[in-house]
Amino acid sequence: MAKGPRDLFQKCREYRDSADARAQGFYPYFRSIEEPHGNYVICEGERKIMIGSNNYLGLAQDPRVVEAACAATRRYGAGCTGSRLLNGTIKLHVELEEALAEFLGCEDAILFSTGFFANQGALIALTEDGDSILCDRENHASIIDGCQFAPAKLVPFRHNSPSSLENRLKRLPEESGRLVIMDGVFSMSGDIANLPEIIPTAKRHGAFVYVDEAHSLGVLGRQGRGTVDHFGLKADVDITMGTFSKSLGSMGGFIAGNAQMVEYLKHRARCLIFTAALAPAVVGAVKKALELMQEEEWRIAALWRNTRKMHEGFKRIGFNIGETKTPIVPILIGSEAKAFIFTQRLFEEGIFATPAIYPAVRYGEAIVRTSFMATHSDDDLDRVLEIFAKLARELGTFDDPAYANPGRRKNIFDFRLPDSVATEAVRENGGDHSQNESGLCAAVSR
Ligand SMILES: Cc1ncc(COP(=O)(O)O)c(C=O)c1O
Repeated sequence: MAKGPRDLFQKCREYRDSADARAQGFYPYFRSIEEPHGNYVICEGERKIMIGSNNYLGLAQDPRVVEAACAATRRYGAGCTGSRLLNGTIKLHVELEEALAEFLGCEDAILFSTGFFANQGALIALTEDGDSILCDRENHASIIDGCQFAPAKLVPFRHNSPSSLENRLKRLPEESGRLVIMDGVFSMSGDIANLPEIIPTAKRHGAFVYVDEAHSLGVLGRQGRGTVDHFGLKADVDITMGTFSKSLGSMGGFIAGNAQMVEYLKHRARCLIFTAALAPAVVGAVKKALELMQEEEWRIAALWRNTRKMHEGFKRIGFNIGETKTPIVPILIGSEAKAFIFTQRLFEEGIFATPAIYPAVRYGEAIVRTSFMATHSDDDLDRVLEIFAKLARELGTFDDPAYANPGRRKNIFDFRLPDSVATEAVRENGGDHSQNESGLCAAVSR
């Protein structure tokens, strides 16, 4: 019997995961910040050391960057009220594009309203039916989604593995256009793209190369030019993508490369044409931040000093920080539920961080994702290490199967919270807080 059309909103009425996590006192998302100060924030009226942002160089609150945003607003208004293609282009957009192209040694660049749109827009516009996009399995969601919407076929290969890439490339039909795409720095693990091996592999098989420098601008390379510059491989990369939402302290994204490719995107990328141009405040702020990043090289030096201190400090305590080589430091916790509780306890102890759980990471290998900044003080960092050590003892982190029995988890239920933690963690409303919590937590992340 026909039941009639499905009620689209039934799933919304039935959705309980976030409410359950809130009721149990460990919901870590959408925390509202009252005052951001870079290395610390005021949240729920209290000072918290911020180790969960991508504000690597501390430029987001720099008074000169803020003043540049205000000056751009005074001159050009609050918004551009239209697409770049039509009425939305202001002189400041063009100036920033020129500055980026010059900085990166590319012929031209085009701004997008977000980095997410830059990846989607470029992948959809530049590939055709019958082409293949060879995509590292740990690339960012904007790349994966871009590949899925693009007319080309998505061909995933093993993370950072030239041999897996080679196998995939060998099997492609000879005439298939091919594009290899990599994050320069991987946003969860903090490891660096193996470009010195990936790029020659790609080139041997006639593939073009696209590198997403979201987490590497301002972090790697000369004056923060990114991973490609870090390895000295500029000449071999065809498309450079970046965002302004991390080291440059604001929002927006760009694609840089040769002038014909940029000209084509300007007239074919739907994510550019059918959305409003970046607001003047954003463009003014980013332009200033880009100047400061180049002028104040102490920032990148301080970022690396802090990064090294934290890598060493976490390892000394006994944490597994994976393969990170950068300021993104994933702290292995193990069970999803424990990662939520760990994060909540961090918050109570004055530290702002967020967990990453399946599907962002493998089942049973949940992490607290931390990231460090040029402007963290030694006191900030010592305090962070002290609290992490205390919580690892309190929550039995090193007894989790992820530590005791490392390797691929078989299923989502092969971990168990210590009874003391399970009882303590149920803050309000009672409820069973053991095995099945992982399902709940996983659902919260999707
Ligand atoms: C690797 C990578 N690419 C692209 C993006 C999207 O950038 P945006 O925040 O500018 O949309 C992100 C953001 O997290 C990212 O980590």
